[in-house]
Amino acid sequence: MTEFLKIESVAKRFGDFAAINGVSLTLPADRLTAIIGPNGAGKTTLINLATGALFPDSGTMHFKGEAITRLPIHRRIHKGLSRSFQIMNIFARLSVLQNILVPVLSRRGRAGMPFSKMEREQEAVTEARRILGEIGLLDEQNDPAGELSHGDQRLLELGIAIAPAPELCFLDEPSSGLTPVERARVLDLIRKLSAARHTTFVIVEHDMDVVFSLADWIVVMNRGQVLAEGPPAEIRENRAVREIYLGEELTA
Ligand SMILES: Nc1ncnc2c1ncn2[C@@H]1O[C@H](COP(=O)(O)OP(=O)(O)OP(=O)(O)O)[C@@H](O)[C@H]1O
Ligand SMILES: [Mg+2]
Repeated sequence: MTEFLKIESVAKRFGDFAAINGVSLTLPADRLTAIIGPNGAGKTTLINLATGALFPDSGTMHFKGEAITRLPIHRRIHKGLSRSFQIMNIFARLSVLQNILVPVLSRRGRAGMPFSKMEREQEAVTEARRILGEIGLLDEQNDPAGELSHGDQRLLELGIAIAPAPELCFLDEPSSGLTPVERARVLDLIRKLSAARHTTFVIVEHDMDVVFSLADWIVVMNRGQVLAEGPPAEIRENRAVREIYLGEELTA
């Protein structure tokens, strides 16, 4: 197994509370991993640690063989690591195109440009429009992002997350708050993007239908630790997982 992301004995406390309590995980490239677990299990905290929003108290992380444990966010993005957020993270008053242009320009080393000038950067605009085509929002490119439907805003977030052309991309509850139809669109897109781009996705998700239909590998977290990991069929049968988390949902 190629060691793509390797997390070893990572721990993170908030005061007295051990949010992450000794997590070790190795994620290979090209395997769609879903992280599941009850509220407060530490899923978002683990993403924060992996992407550099937080630093661990102990433990190490390597990406493609390089230590990233204390690397700041922007340096991790540069190395091919990106994410989306559990809570919507778009610029509501900027246009859909400008929302994608921000990360595209930043990857091209042109961060911090005035919004009014962004659309004169022809190559970046072409690239941003290509991404909008991939996520199906080209027709909405000039609309203020805040006026998109909730489902389209989630698609835009996905576009923002893939705009830095990451090799590894974490998606924190990409389908939360969506109708079944919108949810299906987002999932189809994740599937399509992982096949079409050289991007490995790790999703945090509560919807078990989504998890079992999408993931190649499932990591179950509970109380800041990894309770189990394995292919969906194995996790479905795992006794501890059924008892602690999935319970009746899977016996149905
Ligand atoms: N910045 C913080 N300060 C204090 N406690 C925190 C902080 N961030 C997270 N926690 C706590 O750490 C625990 C893990 O939180 P985390 O957000 O990682 O859980 P989660 O698995 O993503 O849950 P959910 O499914 O609800 O999103 C929770 O009890 C949370 O209250
Ligand atoms: Mg969370």
